[in-house]
Amino acid sequence: MAFAPLAAVPAPEPGFGPWPVNLERVDGELVLAGHKISDLADEGTPLYLVDENDMRDRARAWVHAIGDGDVYYAGKSFLTPGVARWMMSEGLCIDTASEGELRTALAGGVPGERIGLHGNSKSDATLRLALESGVGRIVIDSPGEVDQLAGIAAEMGVVAPCFVRVTTGVHAGGHDFIATAHEDQKFGLSLATGAAQRVVTAISANPHLEFLGLHSHIGSQILDSEGFAAAAAAVMDFAAELIGMGIDVPEVDLGGGYGIQYTGLDPKPAIEIDMIAGIRSAIDAACQRTGIPVPRLSIEPGRSISGPAGMTLYRVGATKDVMTDDGVRRYVSVDGGMSDNIRPALYGADYTALLVRESDADLVPSRVVGMHCESGDIVVRDVALAADVSRGDLLLVAATGAYGRSMASNYNMVRRPGVLAVSEDGTSWLVRPETWDDVLGIFPDC
Ligand code: LLP
Repeated sequence: MAFAPLAAVPAPEPGFGPWPVNLERVDGELVLAGHKISDLADEGTPLYLVDENDMRDRARAWVHAIGDGDVYYAGKSFLTPGVARWMMSEGLCIDTASEGELRTALAGGVPGERIGLHGNSKSDATLRLALESGVGRIVIDSPGEVDQLAGIAAEMGVVAPCFVRVTTGVHAGGHDFIATAHEDQKFGLSLATGAAQRVVTAISANPHLEFLGLHSHIGSQILDSEGFAAAAAAVMDFAAELIGMGIDVPEVDLGGGYGIQYTGLDPKPAIEIDMIAGIRSAIDAACQRTGIPVPRLSIEPGRSISGPAGMTLYRVGATKDVMTDDGVRRYVSVDGGMSDNIRPALYGADYTALLVRESDADLVPSRVVGMHCESGDIVVRDVALAADVSRGDLLLVAATGAYGRSMASNYNMVRRPGVLAVSEDGTSWLVRPETWDDVLGIFPDC
C-alpha cells in the first residue's frame, strides 16, 4: 500500500474520530480524564498515554457482544502485566504469540488456562513453558509442530491442548503484510491442499495431544463482518468434514483484525455487537446447512481494544518550510518518530495530530516527522496545523495504543518512551520510560 494522499485537514477535536473517550478540551486545554496534557508532559516526552477506562470499556464491549464465548485480548498489540490484569478483571483471556508475551501474561497473574499460545516457529523451551503453565490452547501452525509438541508433552507426562490454524483463502483488510489468510504466506495450514486435514487427523490420533478446535485469522483493519463471515463459513465446512470423519470440533476461534479509525477521515468500523452478530449468523447458517452442532466461539481482538485508547505526546524540536510541487509544506520535527511508531514507515499508515495548546493562527499544510536519520521517518503524513507551531510546543497523536510501544525500537540509540495509564483516580506507569542505563547497560564495556 502506498501512502494514501491525505488532504491537509485539521485533526478532529476530542469527542470525534480516533480520540479516546475521556479526552476533552476544557477552557482551551486538552485534558485526559481530568489531567491536563500539558501537566502530563512533565513526565518527559515522547510519552505514550493510555486512557485506562476507555481501554477497559472497549474490552468489556467485546465480552458483552460475544456473550457465551471467549474474548482473547491479542497481547501483541500492547501487553504489560498491568494490562493483562485489566483484561482479566474485565473477563477476557490473553492471546500470546511468543515466549515473551506468554511470560508477560503469566507475570500479570493470568492463569494458564486463560492463555492461548500462537506462533509459526515455537521453540521447545516455549512449548515446555506453555505446558508447565497449563496454557489452555496451543495453536498448531505447521505439520512438524505435531511431533514436536507431542514429544514434549510425552516427556512431561501431559496431554497438550491443541487448536489448528487454517488458511481459508479469504483476503480481507489492509496492507499485504498484515493480511494473513491467502495461500502464499507463512501462517496456517491450507484447507485447499488438505494440509489442515492431515494435521487435525494426526493430532486426534496422538494420545499426547487433544484436538480442541479450529482457528482462523484473516488479517487486520477489517471494518465489517463480511470477511469474517466468509472465513467462518469455510471453517465450518471443514468442521463438518471432520465431524463426518468422527473428529469433534468443540470450538472455533476466528482471530482478531477488527479495525479502528486512525484519522478523522477513516470510516467508522462496525460496532462489536454487529460484528459478532454477523459472524454468528454465518456460523449458524453453516451449521444448519451441514447439520452439525454450533461450536463455541472465540475471538482475538487487539487493536480495537488498545489502539484508540492510546495516544503519543511529542514535543516539537524544529520547524521548516519546504517547497513541493503542490506548494509549501511545513515540516514539524518532534522528539520521537519511527522508533516509537514504525507503522507509517512499515505500512504507510496515516495518523492525525492536535496541537495541545489553543491557537487562533491560520492552519497550514504540515507533515509531522521524527528525529531519526531516515526520510521515511514520518509521524503524521498530512495534517493542517496552526502556523505558529514552534519549538517547545506539544503535539498529541491519536490511536497509537496498538502496535506503537509493542513494535518500538532503540533505533539511533533512543530510549523507548514509557506508557502512562491515566484515569480519574490518578496516573501510573504501565511501562516506565527507559533510562540511559537501560540503553547503554547492554554493552559489556559500559
Ligand atoms: N490473532 C492473531 C492470530 C493475529 O495474528 C493477530 C494480529 C491478532 C489476533 C490481533 O489482530 P488485531 O485485532 O490487533 O488487528 N503490526 C501490525 C499488525 C500485525 C498483526 C498481526 N496479527 C499493525 O501494526 O497493524
